[in-house]
Amino acid sequence: MSKPSTHLAAIVPKAHSKLVIQERKTPTPAEGEILIQNHAIALNPLDNRRVDWGLFMDSYPVVLGQDLTGVVVEVGPGVSNFKPGDRVIAFTPAVVTGNNDHAAFQQYTITPAINTSKIPDSLEFVDAVTVVCGISTAITAYDDVLKVRKPGSGPAATDSAVLVWGGASSVGKYAIELARLSGLPVITTASPRHHDSLRALGASAVFDYSSPTAVTDLIAAAEKLGKPLDLAIDAISMPDTLPQVVEVLSKTPGSGAKIIAHTLPWPDSVPQPPRGMEHHHITAKVLWEYRSELAAWLNGGTLTAWLEEGKVKPLKVRLFEGGLQNAQKAMDSLAEGVSSEKVVLKLL
Ligand SMILES: NC(=O)c1ccc[n+]([C@@H]2O[C@H](COP(=O)([O-])OP(=O)(O)OC[C@H]3O[C@@H](n4cnc5c(N)ncnc54)[C@H](OP(=O)(O)O)[C@@H]3O)[C@@H](O)[C@H]2O)c1
Repeated sequence: MSKPSTHLAAIVPKAHSKLVIQERKTPTPAEGEILIQNHAIALNPLDNRRVDWGLFMDSYPVVLGQDLTGVVVEVGPGVSNFKPGDRVIAFTPAVVTGNNDHAAFQQYTITPAINTSKIPDSLEFVDAVTVVCGISTAITAYDDVLKVRKPGSGPAATDSAVLVWGGASSVGKYAIELARLSGLPVITTASPRHHDSLRALGASAVFDYSSPTAVTDLIAAAEKLGKPLDLAIDAISMPDTLPQVVEVLSKTPGSGAKIIAHTLPWPDSVPQPPRGMEHHHITAKVLWEYRSELAAWLNGGTLTAWLEEGKVKPLKVRLFEGGLQNAQKAMDSLAEGVSSEKVVLKLL
């Protein structure tokens, strides 16, 4: 499989700018890396925030994006588990490395093999790509923050149930699926149209987050489970959600320290939880930093098997065809909000 000397990328040329299409040199993978021809890219709230707020934008131009699926074109020295032609899914580390070659919004991306999984032939590129960020963040929440043993590696090391606030978000949905794989009961919140599908995924109880009784309903549901409630993942982590999560954990029986994993930094406006309750910001980027063994476990066959066996399912797709020319349209569509779905840009 040959690679072109140059390829197209959707770049942010300067601060707060719209995306423009530009040619870039197609790079060569270094030790432990692979070069992928991208077929589909999934967008995340972070992509818009990077442009709007300047997050992880140290110098320009910037190529955005971290979730992709595609076909391996070339492997670097020391890579033995991938070969040209393999269909793969990758969580690419440009946010940490600052290297545009490691970003997704382009036709060819270089990524560490350790952040890459094979995808089953039965799964389309546009579906498989919906899984990347959500599953990476959810596994980081359980393993790095809540210290729940990985699914399939013995009993979960806790008797606790889990509160997942925002079960219809991408992170929340995979947090529910991973809890089911670990044997932990889940109570969650979502708008009513998602209640049946979240129960089918494994949630024991689902309540409308906009209901004035959401907190009391969750407390009653936790008591009915007859399990301690020590653990919570707030997938939304806004100033109105975190205090409700704190209240549920405060008013339910526990078996030890109570821990909240939140996807955004704890806002200054939200009071700190009471004594005996910890909170920690989940950062999926630890998979590119000091948790490489967790990335290796997830990508060394685990995610592929879960996808093959249907234990982890893709999200619904809001599809943008027409390649990188439509990257800005896809960004604008994501900014309008999603509901249990992923904005995906199809390149090939
Ligand atoms: N720290 C990290 O490493 C990391 C990684 C990934 C994501 N994040 C952050 O985590 C957050 C979630 O990301 P995502 O991609 O999972 O989001 P998403 O899929 O875009 O979230 C959309 C969903 O949020 C739900 N929602 C909105 N407000 C809610 C509320 N008050 N209570 C409960 N649910 C609510 C909506 O549910 P309904 O459809 O039911 O209305 C909707 O389905 C974002 O802020 C993202 O930037 C952080």
